[in-house]
Amino acid sequence: MGEDVRVTEVDIPFLLDLPPGAPPMVLPADAPMTEASVRLGKALFFDPQLSRDGSIACASCHFPDRAFSDTVPISKGIEGRLGMRNSPPLLNLAWHPAFFRDGGVPTLEQQAIAPIHDTQEMDFNIHFAAERVREKEPYARLSRLAYGRPLDAFLLTRALATYQRTLVSGWSRYDRFLQGDMDALSEAEQRGLALFNGPDLKCGTCHGGFDLSDHRYHNIGLYTLSPDPGRERISLVASDHGKFKTPTLRNIALTAPYMHDGTFATLEEVMDHFASGGQAAPNKSPLVAGFTISPEQRLDLIAFLHALTDERPLDQVH
Ligand code: HEC
Ligand code: HEC
Repeated sequence: MGEDVRVTEVDIPFLLDLPPGAPPMVLPADAPMTEASVRLGKALFFDPQLSRDGSIACASCHFPDRAFSDTVPISKGIEGRLGMRNSPPLLNLAWHPAFFRDGGVPTLEQQAIAPIHDTQEMDFNIHFAAERVREKEPYARLSRLAYGRPLDAFLLTRALATYQRTLVSGWSRYDRFLQGDMDALSEAEQRGLALFNGPDLKCGTCHGGFDLSDHRYHNIGLYTLSPDPGRERISLVASDHGKFKTPTLRNIALTAPYMHDGTFATLEEVMDHFASGGQAAPNKSPLVAGFTISPEQRLDLIAFLHALTDERPLDQVH
């Protein structure tokens, strides 16, 4: 019965489904997107063993059914320790020029190190984390298949980044509308879209493009003197005080609470903020100057934001 036949498992490219409007995805040369590397990354993402006391996984703060964001203003790490900022959704990360709300981390691979080491989050060490799981399944098998060697800190960052690059958003009713399906948005949602991109509200100036973000940093007047320095933490330039990366608005109906510190619980509160023009911060963006809209227009705009929810799960690993 074929005793001499050695079945050798081979890895194959991961067939990522990209939505029609997505830009091409360029992968780093040392992080190939294969069945094994993506599955390895996914297993790591959901494994609390990457935290010092084995209690917190990446997914503890990034819930799949919340577009990989959290439900609370500030997430808790091990032993209930509080962090500094609100957990952002994880989607379309392959196209982000920089990570964190202040853009302080240049690559998705480097980003994976931060939460594992952060004392308020997983409070561990990436080398110990790799050592702890490398002999266990599915890690031993998947790491050999994907990279031809046992898991180490380097591969752990590659695998986590590779899985996260597969979390692509672009299958909302708004996307179908852009592709020419005029019935995909209701009349109210279409009115909301026109307001969103119109000259009075100017939302689309910052929240534009495929990811509904310019991926730049703005002070939108949340505070006159922001308790969180934001972009200034990285650039050390005073005029960057209280500036944060424009967040994507994809799946925005799923990702409350809002802003870098989760200060707003609802989209209605966000709308009221922009309508008021916010606080008079010295470097507030001139695009956030306040406006007047009728109660119906406010409803239209919020209806449009709800049309940005994907009609399928972000996770493509089945
Ligand atoms: C204790 C909660 C917590 C845990 C655990 C956690 N994160 Fe996060 N994550 C956050 C917060 C909060 C931020 C925003 C940090 C900032 O902007 O300063 C963030 C930001 C990110 C970002 C940047 C997104 C962007 O838009 O710039 C990525 C990617 C990410 N996390 C992936 C991970 C991965 C991978 C793990 C596991 C190794 C993980 N996170 C574990 C809370 C957490
Ligand atoms: C000057 C650029 C700019 C303009 C104009 C702008 N935004 Fe934003 N928006 C941002 C930035 C930056 C943040 C994040 C601020 C933070 O994290 O503290 C944000 C946050 C948001 C959020 C919360 C997202 C989240 O995940 O927490 C929503 C919703 C939003 N904006 C909708 C709008 C709407 C609707 C308009 C038009 C009325 C608008 N924005 C106009 C830059 C802008």
